[in-house]
Amino acid sequence: MSKYKIVVLPGDGIGPEIVDEALKVLKTLEGASNKLDFEFLQFECGGQYYLKTGRKEEWPPEVFDICKNEADAILLGAIGWTDPKTGKTVSYPSGKMVGLEILFGLRFGLDLYANIRPTKLYENVPHKISGEFRQIWDPKNVDFVTIRENTEGLYADTHGGLNRGGQIEVATDVRLITRKGAERVIKFAFDYCTRRNKGSPKDGKLRVTCVDKSNVTAGCKLFRSIYQEIAPKYPNIQEDYAFIDAFTQWIVRTPEWFDVCVVANMFGDIATDLAAVLQGSLGMAASGNVGDKHGMFEPIHGSAPKYTGKNVINPLATIFAASMMLDWLSMKNNDEPTLKSGADMIEKAIQLVLNEGKIRTYDLGGNSSTSQVGDAVSAKVKELARNM
Ligand code: IPM
Ligand code: MG
Repeated sequence: MSKYKIVVLPGDGIGPEIVDEALKVLKTLEGASNKLDFEFLQFECGGQYYLKTGRKEEWPPEVFDICKNEADAILLGAIGWTDPKTGKTVSYPSGKMVGLEILFGLRFGLDLYANIRPTKLYENVPHKISGEFRQIWDPKNVDFVTIRENTEGLYADTHGGLNRGGQIEVATDVRLITRKGAERVIKFAFDYCTRRNKGSPKDGKLRVTCVDKSNVTAGCKLFRSIYQEIAPKYPNIQEDYAFIDAFTQWIVRTPEWFDVCVVANMFGDIATDLAAVLQGSLGMAASGNVGDKHGMFEPIHGSAPKYTGKNVINPLATIFAASMMLDWLSMKNNDEPTLKSGADMIEKAIQLVLNEGKIRTYDLGGNSSTSQVGDAVSAKVKELARNM
């Protein structure tokens, strides 16, 4: 029996609702297996926690060390609270959003340099375009993974400004690209492509696309030149290039071309929200923030304040994130088969629920609640485990 300690950070807004469903599924899996043992350490945190406690802290101060020294993995819901009535985001006097210290504290502090963002369309998932639900992309054509650099670029702590007499006149965000940062994330993308071993839906070829703006920016020129140093070391993987602006239209027009894409921090942030449209909804898009030692898993969407407490948000992105967490834990523990089969089982259970088409949240054209989706996926996990 292997025991895994998971730090759970539900965070703000709908975070606790979706995390509850992911935990429900993980506990079902644990209950159905005689080899899995999870210990969940859950902590309140985020903008609402800051308001509630009045302690001027966004998470209990010991949590970072627990994440660093004790956790096998971290599962996070959503961070940041904007009051839906006033539109005001809980912020420090400096203007910095309360909660970023958690997200960036973990991404930077645990050196989670690769943000893995799969764009996969499951069967029987419609796309909502201009208010209509219809099938636009073929599920077999949408299955690529974006590896977003996660510790530098426009998110490096290089923000500054010029303030003469109480008013900010000039604000700067230096876009920092380093050799170390680029090298490790590009190598990660090639290794990820090798392990995934799927290739692009179009031709089955293993391919890593370098997505940048190297026709203009110095940082991207460095990023691309490092990609060109690394690519020849992976002769089985096809080299491929795209400028970020053109990339955004290619992923819509011909998603089937892409297998694994590697991209700098903020380009990846923006492109993967667009890519979520191909998956049917932001509510389907999960991510894993990983480094050499630690991993933190979360949906890519935010805390959706206006839906908070309504039990209507799609929990599948977070349930997928939990599945990614097990897959990563499996790899980290030398491809531990129980974890890998648990990850696969969750994915399969979700597809079975989608196939039946009865239980789905509003973003996918249904009217089921958040907890009904979690219940349905858990029931399928139980069924799959029984028939194993
Ligand atoms: C994401 C989010 C975050 C990011 C925000 C909340 C800081 O948009 O994970 O994609 O920009 O990385
Ligand atoms: Mg984002």
